[in-house]
Amino acid sequence: MKNPASASMTISGIRSLECSNCGKLYSHETIQTFATCCNVPLNAIYDLPFRDAQFINTALQTMWRYQPVLPVLNETNIVSLEEGFTPVSQLNKLSMHLGIHEIWLKDDAKNPTGSFKARGLSMGVSKAKELGIKKMVIPTAGNAGGALSAYCAKAEIEATVIMPRHTAETLKEECRMYGANLILLDGLIDTCGKMARSIAAETGAFDMSTMKEPYRLEGKKTLGYEIAEQFNWLLPDIIIYPAGGGTGLIGIWKAFKELLSMNLIKGILPKMVLVQSDQCSPMVHLFQEGKLPDSYAPQSSAAYGLAVPYPFATQMMLTVLRESNGIALTVSEKEMEDGIQQIAKAEGQLLSPEGAATFMAAKKLLQSQFIKEADKVLLVNTGSWYKYR
Ligand SMILES: Cc1ncc(COP(=O)(O)O)c(C=O)c1O
Ligand SMILES: [Zn+2]
Repeated sequence: MKNPASASMTISGIRSLECSNCGKLYSHETIQTFATCCNVPLNAIYDLPFRDAQFINTALQTMWRYQPVLPVLNETNIVSLEEGFTPVSQLNKLSMHLGIHEIWLKDDAKNPTGSFKARGLSMGVSKAKELGIKKMVIPTAGNAGGALSAYCAKAEIEATVIMPRHTAETLKEECRMYGANLILLDGLIDTCGKMARSIAAETGAFDMSTMKEPYRLEGKKTLGYEIAEQFNWLLPDIIIYPAGGGTGLIGIWKAFKELLSMNLIKGILPKMVLVQSDQCSPMVHLFQEGKLPDSYAPQSSAAYGLAVPYPFATQMMLTVLRESNGIALTVSEKEMEDGIQQIAKAEGQLLSPEGAATFMAAKKLLQSQFIKEADKVLLVNTGSWYKYR
């Protein structure tokens, strides 16, 4: 059984927030959204004096084991449903089948509310509680809405969730079950985002849109800390991540940079791979062509989380790809569906379409020789198949 987060007595080392473009500082002691100086996300910066892994509270089997490098100042404000510290396991049959030395799976479907969104929303809602926020609104492709609803229920914060109407019933119903006010719209998450902004302006609700507040990223960052710890500080060669708004990709990389500055990891960092659906792949266009094509016409995807037509943190995602010598690629809807079945039949694990996309990306990258047979490859499964019904 996991221990409650409140068992820990450590203190946050957060120093400030800074503009991810020009470095202008913003206070972490007042409510912040994004860096209005450059219209980009804010980054939390920390005092990182640790030189060994002693700062980790190993008594906690949750993401809160890393509390000194997380932004919550007073642990009584932590709103936890025991998120994080999810398992990594080796996919032996699939690696033998493909001829890749080692394929590993970080299974974030094992989080509360069945997706990795629990990390970001646990952190975002905890900071909201700490800063006295009483009402929140979120545009979502599905999973983030459920997670916000659950953490707001626990924190007694009023939640409004705006979701595309075509989303699976389970993803809608969980928001209602947690007591959120659910609004359904025709369109994709960008349409929902516009409504979130007007609701925030009209009602004073805090807008939790991806990367438009600084703390969901800090929750997602714990994925990177866990990967480093679970791989015994020797990181895999390649990490494949299914990106929509990009919080997980940027968060994992932020964790690695923090760990490097503490000398806790050494050597070459993993190449970061960003995978999207060919129905909606702004980041792949930006990575490959430097701009969105004139014919850009983003569509919905069975991988709801990947249908983010205009992400806010494009520069930060491109920086991760550039700094890590990574790559961006698409998979088709059919490939994702095939991937779900192949992984289920070989490994007994049913991944979300987003998770299955990472496996199909690995196959393609082996063919193109970006992945070498000797590589150690980590796939990130971000959600549970069971929610997509
Ligand atoms: C299951 C799943 N995978 C991936 C994503 C994309 O996440 P991010 O915004 O961190 O890129 C989402 C977002 O909704 C999701 O629900
Ligand atoms: Zn700036």
